[in-house]
Amino acid sequence: PGLHSLFVAAGKQYFGTATETNNFNDAPYLAILNDPNEFGQITPENSQKWEITQPRQGQFVFNNSDMVAAKAKTNKQILRCHTLTWHSQLPSFVTATSWTPSTLRAVLQTHLTNVITHFRGACSHWDVVNEALAETGEYRPSVFFNVLGESYIPLSFSIAASASANDPIKPKLYYNDYNTELFPQKTEGALRIVKLIQSSAASGARIDGVGFQSHLTVGKTPSQAALASTYQSFTALGVEVALTELDIAHPSLPATDADREQQAKDYVAVVGACLAVDKCVGVTLWQFTDKYSWIPGIFPGTGDACLWTADYKKKPAYFAVRQLL
Ligand code: XIL
Repeated sequence: PGLHSLFVAAGKQYFGTATETNNFNDAPYLAILNDPNEFGQITPENSQKWEITQPRQGQFVFNNSDMVAAKAKTNKQILRCHTLTWHSQLPSFVTATSWTPSTLRAVLQTHLTNVITHFRGACSHWDVVNEALAETGEYRPSVFFNVLGESYIPLSFSIAASASANDPIKPKLYYNDYNTELFPQKTEGALRIVKLIQSSAASGARIDGVGFQSHLTVGKTPSQAALASTYQSFTALGVEVALTELDIAHPSLPATDADREQQAKDYVAVVGACLAVDKCVGVTLWQFTDKYSWIPGIFPGTGDACLWTADYKKKPAYFAVRQLL
């Protein structure tokens, strides 16, 4: 048995991974990605982001994201869809125009409606708004916040709710962020966002879930009890939670055997916390092999964050997670 089959046996909906079309010609990679025991869910790592799906105003491009969706279909894996309203990986037409509130609202309406409608019937979840918070718990400056204030958040959720209203698989609508389990002020900020959306129900907004990206660091990962209690502060508001982008990076390389044992303990704390919280529905790795991890590219000198090595060997963390299940 693999991670997904064991996770489902433990009462969860899925264990999955991010993947992207540039990985799809790597046979050893595909042997693991396509294994239904190992992964029951995939997320496109980049191809549904705004700079790819609407690179120029009014021009929608779905070539790569359709290939990821097709992969999910062939493999009978759930597709988590990522992401709609986000300050990063935006095309220049969004960042370099002086919008008024009403023109920017129209741009959001067009983008979210087109992308959600295109994937009708394919997405089990949508990360509707991604990373709206600074580490202080205040809103992060972005074209959306600067022009519309916090109203862009409930607006995005109301557009998403109406665009997916007739979807046969009714995607769950998520707020997704990182470090929301590390910094109490950021946790508070995310709780405030959930309540803000819930209080905007009259305008059609709805939130179903909160994604904890879970980009964590070996030796600095909170305990299972602390993580579970943070997740529960969200489920207490009536939303589900999921771990949407899990990886646990070594802060310096090369990692020693002792570092790899600590990494195993940290993975166990995080996956164990999801197991301990009823409404934690699933876990998604942000790639399963170090070969394709985003970490060393963005945080040089750190990495080896995944459950499989770059040459597809299972690490102690893999076996420790499996043992937990
Ligand atoms: C990352 C991808 O993994 C990289 O390939 C890309 O260059 C940058 O984005 N939070 C998110 C993800 O929500 O979309 C990011 O993915 C990682 C951080």
